Amino acid sequence: MADMKLYDAMRTLRAVRRLRPDPIPEDVLKRIFEAATWAPNGGNRQPWRMIAVRDTAVKKRMGELYTAHWAPYAANYARGLAKMSEDEAAKHRRTIAAGDYLAAHMYEAPVLVVVCFNPAWLAVTDAQQDRVSVVGGGSVYPAVENLLLAARSEGLGCVLTTLLCAEEPEIKQLLGIPAEWGTAAMIPLGYPLGQGHGPISRKPVGELFFNGRWGAPYP
Ligand SMILES: Cc1cc2nc3c(=O)[nH]c(=O)nc-3n(C[C@H](O)[C@H](O)[C@H](O)COP(=O)(O)O)c2cc1C
Repeated sequence: MADMKLYDAMRTLRAVRRLRPDPIPEDVLKRIFEAATWAPNGGNRQPWRMIAVRDTAVKKRMGELYTAHWAPYAANYARGLAKMSEDEAAKHRRTIAAGDYLAAHMYEAPVLVVVCFNPAWLAVTDAQQDRVSVVGGGSVYPAVENLLLAARSEGLGCVLTTLLCAEEPEIKQLLGIPAEWGTAAMIPLGYPLGQGHGPISRKPVGELFFNGRWGAPYP
């Protein structure tokens, strides 16, 4: 069993969008899925289910639906590059190229994991606030992160995607998802075609954490 150091897995869990079609051994998949079940969630109701999609025709349709949303998103993204330095723009162009690849080759990923949730089972403590509610997702996405980290640890490539959520009605029909359930994410899983995961670029602690009070520098 692949058992990376947790911190190494976390700091190299970048988006991997180019995947090989080679199958993933069942025991590997089972370990990754079990890691997802360990995630914390409100009231321990585990208000999520995941569907491992392997059927090529279904994956092809998912790829088409995904592309319909990726293409305008990527075009808009590309327009924003004009304002960047050449170095920055080159980095983002690589991301767009990887995204184009994922959209066009979605069906080649051996497994597409569709994450579903039951809104009636979510603990939503911010429902009354005058803003978009996010707490409900906290009972779903930790399971997704556990799955991603376990996939990373097993040497699999993966990326959390949400563009397909815009096509929820057709995805539900395609996969027989009951009316009362929604979709939260889709994760293509497969062995990386290229380098795979590696160092990530994120803001430092000093920018994201405060000390005792909003705005007070940490540490
Ligand atoms: C909520 C969420 C939704 C995302 N949706 C998509 C998506 O639909 N397609 C995609 O290619 N990447 C998607 N991503 C991946 C992000 O683009 C990626 O994590 C981010 O750009 C950082 O890239 P890095 O992890 O490679 O550094 C999503 C990530 C998150 C957390």
